[in-house]
Amino acid sequence: MKIENPWKQNPWFESVAVAQRRAQKRLPASVYGALVAGSERGQTIHDNEAAFKALGFAPHVAGHKPERAMNTSVLGIDVSLPVIVSPTGVQAVHPDGEVAVARAAAARGTIMGLSNFASRSIEEVAEANPNTFFQMYWTGDRDVMIQRMERARRAGAKALIATLDWSFSMGRDWGSPEIPEKVDIKAAVRMAPEVIRRPGWLWRFAKSGAIPDLTAPNLAGPGEAKGPTFFGAYYEWMNTPPPTWEDVEWMVREWGGPFMLKGVCRVDDAKRAVDAGVSAISVSNHGGNNLDGTPGIIRCLNPIADAVGDEVEVLLDGGIRRGSDVVKAVALGARAVMIGRAYLWGLAANGQAGVENVFDILRSGIDSALLGLGLDSIDQLRPESLIIPDDFYRALGVPESVTK
Ligand SMILES: Cc1cc2nc3c(=O)[nH]c(=O)nc-3n(C[C@H](O)[C@H](O)[C@H](O)COP(=O)(O)O)c2cc1C
Repeated sequence: MKIENPWKQNPWFESVAVAQRRAQKRLPASVYGALVAGSERGQTIHDNEAAFKALGFAPHVAGHKPERAMNTSVLGIDVSLPVIVSPTGVQAVHPDGEVAVARAAAARGTIMGLSNFASRSIEEVAEANPNTFFQMYWTGDRDVMIQRMERARRAGAKALIATLDWSFSMGRDWGSPEIPEKVDIKAAVRMAPEVIRRPGWLWRFAKSGAIPDLTAPNLAGPGEAKGPTFFGAYYEWMNTPPPTWEDVEWMVREWGGPFMLKGVCRVDDAKRAVDAGVSAISVSNHGGNNLDGTPGIIRCLNPIADAVGDEVEVLLDGGIRRGSDVVKAVALGARAVMIGRAYLWGLAANGQAGVENVFDILRSGIDSALLGLGLDSIDQLRPESLIIPDDFYRALGVPESVTK
């Protein structure tokens, strides 16, 4: 008879905050620190979450709806809830990395966003979830970018996400983790003290037979077995002249299919994106990892959705930690949201099942908010569904605004 260890922790968690605490306990300090990220004094990363907290609800006491619908579509793909996976480089979090995230998203009926800096290839990930969007930064010359787009298309990527908001911000007041160029003996010895305190993490990698190699397989050139190291890839990116709006138009044309521009926080940029021919935008400040001082991103959403929501699909990412945050974003004009750290905490806490757990938390939070609001579908959400403080919105880049 198998006797269960009575002290073993129930792997299920009830909130993203609990998953984050478990991630902190399980990951080596530098891996955890790389996921916390943020930049400079952390004004933006803080406001991304705090701004959601400033929004409230006025629920009903009776007359609630017995069934509530939350399915929608993003760039032609049906999703069972208005939440999809935002691309992140899941280096060293879990041996199954992005494949586990992709499987979890597929199991919960939604879309996987794969970063070009990811640790697993577009081919493996698209196999795990046929509804995968591939994300690219503006890095390398045009021929290299065409090769990468073609590879993603061949692998079956259903849309391209271009993330163009990166501002190469360096340094944060709480310190940056030291990331080795590659995991060799020297790096292993240096990291030993923090890794030895996280035996579960080490054991998971040892069992899978793979050590985190910190390379970017999706940036490998034709015929190359392995991609560049993370630092090699970053170097190429830093040395690529920043894109113009003509470059955005070129990228849209070259891809020739559903295309999302990620990182928009101004109304004027949203309008230019429409002119450039994109099919969707994500209102985003890269989760507060970029230019610090950018407002909490939910503040920027409604003015943008009002301006371009009839012409392109408007998504939001940044600061989503619970189902009620999703409801607030949809009420302010988002068709769906993308999540970043929320699923990274779930992955660190419990692999694929942890990411599924995060989707389940968001689903039940959305349902609970709709129930309280007396609505039977996310389609009925409007700004009037919320309590919005005066001076909440930041309409950036409109003529009457000081930020023009
Ligand atoms: C560790 C980490 C790595 C990220 N890597 C990428 C990336 O490679 N490409 C990208 O477009 N965005 C990247 N992002 C940004 C996310 O896609 C997303 O915009 C952000 O995480 C949303 O904020 P949230 O974490 O508060 O949900 C990264 C974010 C984090 C935290």
